[in-house]
Amino acid sequence: MKVVLGVTGGISAYKAVEVMRGLQKSGVEVQVVMTKNATRMVTPLTFQSISGYPVIDGMWTPTHDPEIKHIELAQNTDLILVAPATANILAKFANGIADDFLTTLYISATAPVLVAPAMNVEMWAHPATQENVEKLRKHGVLFVDPESGYLACKTVGPGRLAEPQQIVQKALEILGKKKTSATDKATYDLLNENILITAGPTYEAIDPVRGITNRSSGKMGYAIAEAARRRGAKVTLITGPVNLSPPSSATTIQVKSAAEMYDAVMQNLAESTMIIMAAAVADYTPAKKANHKIKKGDGKIILELEPTKDILAAVGRVKDGRVLIGFAAETENVEANARKKLINKKADLIVANDVSRIDSGFEVNSNQVSLISLEETINLELLPKMEVAEKILDSALIIKQSNRIHP
Ligand code: CTP
Repeated sequence: MKVVLGVTGGISAYKAVEVMRGLQKSGVEVQVVMTKNATRMVTPLTFQSISGYPVIDGMWTPTHDPEIKHIELAQNTDLILVAPATANILAKFANGIADDFLTTLYISATAPVLVAPAMNVEMWAHPATQENVEKLRKHGVLFVDPESGYLACKTVGPGRLAEPQQIVQKALEILGKKKTSATDKATYDLLNENILITAGPTYEAIDPVRGITNRSSGKMGYAIAEAARRRGAKVTLITGPVNLSPPSSATTIQVKSAAEMYDAVMQNLAESTMIIMAAAVADYTPAKKANHKIKKGDGKIILELEPTKDILAAVGRVKDGRVLIGFAAETENVEANARKKLINKKADLIVANDVSRIDSGFEVNSNQVSLISLEETINLELLPKMEVAEKILDSALIIKQSNRIHP
């Protein structure tokens, strides 16, 4: 087991020595990578003397083994752990800035990444940092959150580096899980797949300023797109209006209404090998869209709605050997209702979630779902959406490989 321990320039950089020792005591090989600012806080020699290995402290430093190149290291590490992680490194990771060894390593690695932020209270609370953290979580980065306490800047609040022992513990958990968990895939098992994914809500206009929509943040569909890309698939993401940035290197098609989503899916169906419909499509749309804003009157008004086309069912009719996965958001009789959808829409898997739970489903980052196929029902525990995404992709692949596609 090999871990890259990234040390950045926070006041708590000295605690990284303890993290390194904790990992080594557990039999983990540690390669320390320091940023330029970190070397001002602790000398590379400290890490080198204690670990017995040379430290990488720059892109071009002659001190490190010339054999170690960032790509080679990126491919041969089981975990990238950054402790302490400054606001600056979080911002660089979140935005793909690669201007030194650690940031270049991060962007070229497929191993899981665990970061332990440490900074001043205001820096941690700043919307820029929180947005970066949110973005990184979406990219699958795992966190050991900072603790509350008395900080070097003489204030009290969240920002202090988590205890080294806790960081080591979390790193070992991830390494232990690696053999069995689908989350830590470093393989490209979807290289031959072309996956069409729908995500987010649709918006059905009533007039130029009003519309009907569904509750959906798009997080689940975007997580599937991100995970599929990482596993080597070609991804086309058809998305309704959401506040998320599209995953890197997926083809993203923005749509608004159910009718637009239907057209986009049908236009891209031929090339796809798997279709995953995570979008919350409106079931009804106004029969007539007013061209001008409807003015308020005294009495009631009646809005006439007509059904939209069911995209999942339409694809089910012409799927022709493709793996088709749908979602079911239920508030009661989850399994029975989802199974009905599986049969009626000729899907191969329905991902069912009970949206009456507050920690699962809409807007949150976790989801508790059941994977319902013709043969079985698998009830998963409450998991981060990125892990749910991996499980869905695992199931899609198993269905395809075992030729269990609904005719
Ligand atoms: N779906 C679709 N096109 C629609 C409606 C839904 O493709 N016009 C897809 C969704 O993307 C999701 C699944 O169908 O994968 C949800 O099934 P659906 O029958 O729409 O669920 P509900 O609308 O919740 O159905 P019901 O109201 O009967 O529970």
